[in-house]
Amino acid sequence: MKIIIINGPNLNMLGRREPDIYGNQSFEEYFQKLTGIFPDLSLDYFQSNHEGELIDCIQRAEVEYDGIILNAAAYSHTSLAIAESLACISKPIIEVHISNIFARETFRHHSVISLHCKGVIVGLGLDGYRLAVSAIATM
Ligand code: DQA
Repeated sequence: MKIIIINGPNLNMLGRREPDIYGNQSFEEYFQKLTGIFPDLSLDYFQSNHEGELIDCIQRAEVEYDGIILNAAAYSHTSLAIAESLACISKPIIEVHISNIFARETFRHHSVISLHCKGVIVGLGLDGYRLAVSAIATM
């Protein structure tokens, strides 16, 4: 089974970005551990700060992967273009947020992408990605 994790803007800064909210670990470090936890799965990781690149990746993922884990970061709250790209996807999508978006500013409380996702994991730190992989692996 092939699963891709797609991270949106500023998530390339994990480990250095607001560590009190997002922790001290880079995603690259975490991703290495994650692949070790699931030796029987093929896991890939893509990050971009650009909306169009995220959409290109989502469209490719429909063909190449069995499931998508998406943290669209700030675009989760604003991007109708990403939401509409997800509407075309037949593979399971899990939305992940590292922080608890409901315990933060009100502009983070709404996600325009959630209605296209099978499930949403919020506020459990980077471990949310592991839970999302487990969920897709058992679908
Ligand atoms: C985030 C939450 C978003 O509100 C924020 O813009 C991010 C990260 C999270 O993982 O907690 O960049 O998606």
